[in-house]
Amino acid sequence: VKIHDQEALRGPGGELHQTAGGDTPVLTTSHGMPVADDQSSLKIGPRGPTLMEDVHFRDKIFHFDHERIPERVVHARGMGAHGFFEAYESLADITTADPFQEAGRRTEAFVRFSTVAGNKGSFDLARDVRGFAVKLYTGAGNWDIVGNNIPVFFIQDAIKFPDLIHAAKQEPDRGFPQAQTAHDNFWDFISLTPESMHMVMWIMSDRAIPRSFRFMEGFGVHSFRLVNADGKSTFVKFHWKPKLGMQSVVWNEAVKINGADPDFHRRDLWDAITKGDAPEWELGLQLFDESFAQAFDFDILDSTKIIPEEIVPVRRVGRLVLDRVVDNFFAETEQVAFCTQNIIPGVDFSNDPLLQGRNFSYLDTQLKRLGSPNFNEIPVNRPRCPMHHFQQDGHMRMDVRKGRANYEPNSWKEGPREDPKTGFSSLRVTEHEPDKLRMRPESFADHYSQARQFYISQTPEERTHMANALVFELSKVERPDIRLRMLSHLQNVHEDLADAVAAGLGVRDMPDPAPAAKPTRTDLPPSPALSIVLN
Ligand code: HEM
Repeated sequence: VKIHDQEALRGPGGELHQTAGGDTPVLTTSHGMPVADDQSSLKIGPRGPTLMEDVHFRDKIFHFDHERIPERVVHARGMGAHGFFEAYESLADITTADPFQEAGRRTEAFVRFSTVAGNKGSFDLARDVRGFAVKLYTGAGNWDIVGNNIPVFFIQDAIKFPDLIHAAKQEPDRGFPQAQTAHDNFWDFISLTPESMHMVMWIMSDRAIPRSFRFMEGFGVHSFRLVNADGKSTFVKFHWKPKLGMQSVVWNEAVKINGADPDFHRRDLWDAITKGDAPEWELGLQLFDESFAQAFDFDILDSTKIIPEEIVPVRRVGRLVLDRVVDNFFAETEQVAFCTQNIIPGVDFSNDPLLQGRNFSYLDTQLKRLGSPNFNEIPVNRPRCPMHHFQQDGHMRMDVRKGRANYEPNSWKEGPREDPKTGFSSLRVTEHEPDKLRMRPESFADHYSQARQFYISQTPEERTHMANALVFELSKVERPDIRLRMLSHLQNVHEDLADAVAAGLGVRDMPDPAPAAKPTRTDLPPSPALSIVLN
C-alpha cells in the first residue's frame, strides 16, 4: 500500500488521515460500498450516541465479532507451507496411485506441521509429538497422508483417543498445563495403559523436541495398502526422511527457546522458505505382503508397533519439496482439512482399528470446525483435478451448478457416471481378510411381487383410482420415453394396471416389460387389510 505524503494527509485539526488515490484502492464495506470515513462512527452530534444507521460500523464490527473459529481439538498449533511431490520412478507395478505412475511426475502438495497437545497459542518447543500432515492434490483427487514425526502411537484402538487427549491436554478444573506432558492426568492415564509404553519411549526421547520441522522425520504410522491394476494389494508403511537429517535440541535449550521465542519452529520454516532454502523430504516406502505380515510376532494392524527397517528396508521413491509460504495463515494453514479418509485409487486402508476410527473422526470434527459440509470448496482444500458429483446446497456453497439432473441414474444424458475401470474400488482385499463388498444380495432382487400384491389387494374402485392417479401424474411428464419406461414396469406389476394406464395416456404400442432380476410371483394372495372403505 502506498502511503501518501503524511503532511498532505493531515486534516484541519492536525489529525492524520489516510485517503485513497493513485495506487491505493478505495476502502469498501464487505458488500462493496466505498467508505468515506473509517475513523469515527456515525453519531448524533460529536458526543453521540452512535446510530444504528451506521452500516459501515455495523458491517465492520459484525465481521470482527465472528473472526474466530474453533481451534483443532488436537494439533491446534501448526504451520503450513506449499510445495510439490516428485516421483523418482514409476511404481505402476505396485499401485495405480496417480503420483507414482511415471518418473518425474510432480504433484502439488500442502503440508502442515503441528504440536498435538498445546492450544493454538502455546509454544513450539513443547515435549510433544509433531504432526506431519501432507495433502497431495493428485490427478485422481486429494490424497492426505496425515502422519506424525513418531512412527508409533499411544493407543491401539480409536475408542481410547478421547481419553488419551483429555489426559494429555490441560486439566479440566485448572486449565493447565497448556502444552506439556508433565502432569498427573497424563501419567495417570499412561500408567494405566500399558499399550502406550513403546510410544512413551519415543516421547521421552529427543525426537519429541525437534530443532525444527525441517529436521524431522514423518510417518504415516498405520499399515496402509497399495493396489495395482490387477487388484494385487501390498501393505505399505509411509516414511518422510528429511534431506537435512535429523536434529533435536536438549531440554534446557527447549525451555530457553520457548521463553525467548515461542514461535521458533514457525519462524524457522518461514525464514527457510522465504530465503530460498526450501526444505526437502524423501518419501520412503516399506512394502510387504500378507504372508510376510503373518510371519511377524506382532500384528501389523497394531499402531503401537513399527516394522523394523532392517527387516523391511525403506525404499525411497520420491521427494517432497516445500518452496512456498502461505499467503494467508487463516485461509490456508487454519482452514486446511486433512482427512485420513482422503485416499485415491491405488491406495487403500488396512483394518487397523486406530485408522478406522480416524476415518470417522476427521470429517466429523471438520464439519464443526469449519462450519459447513462444503469445506472442500475452500481453495486450500479444493481438489485440483476435475470434480463432478451430485452433492448440492448446504451452508456456504460456492459452486453454481448448471443443468437439470442432480441425481443418478438419470436419462438426461447429463452429469457424471461411475467408472468401474478408473474409479476407486475397495472390493479387493487380501486372502486373510473377509471380503468387503459393494453389492445387494440375491434375496433383495424381487422388485415387483409385493407391488402386485398391493395392487390386487385393492377393491375395483381403488384400482381404478390408482390407474387414474398414474395417468394424471404421467400425463404431466413431458418426455414420452419416461412414460413408456413406467409402463414397462407396470406390466411386471399387473397387466390390467399397465393396460389401463396405457389407455389413459393414449399409448397404442405397449413397450416390452422391464427386465426383471426375479420374475413377479403371481401366486401371492392380496395383501391383507390394505383396502380402505370408500365413502
Ligand atoms: C488432527 C495425526 C490419531 C483425531 C491430526 C493432525 C495430525 C494427526 C497430523 C493435524 C492435521 C492438521 O495439521 O490439520 C494423527 C496420527 C494419529 C492420530 C498420526 C495416529 C496414528 C488420531 C485418532 C483420532 C484423531 C485415533 C480420533 C479417533 C484427530 C482430530 C484432529 C486430528 C479430531 C483435528 C482435525 C481437524 O480439526 O482438522 N491428527 N492422529 N487422531 N486428529 Fe489425529
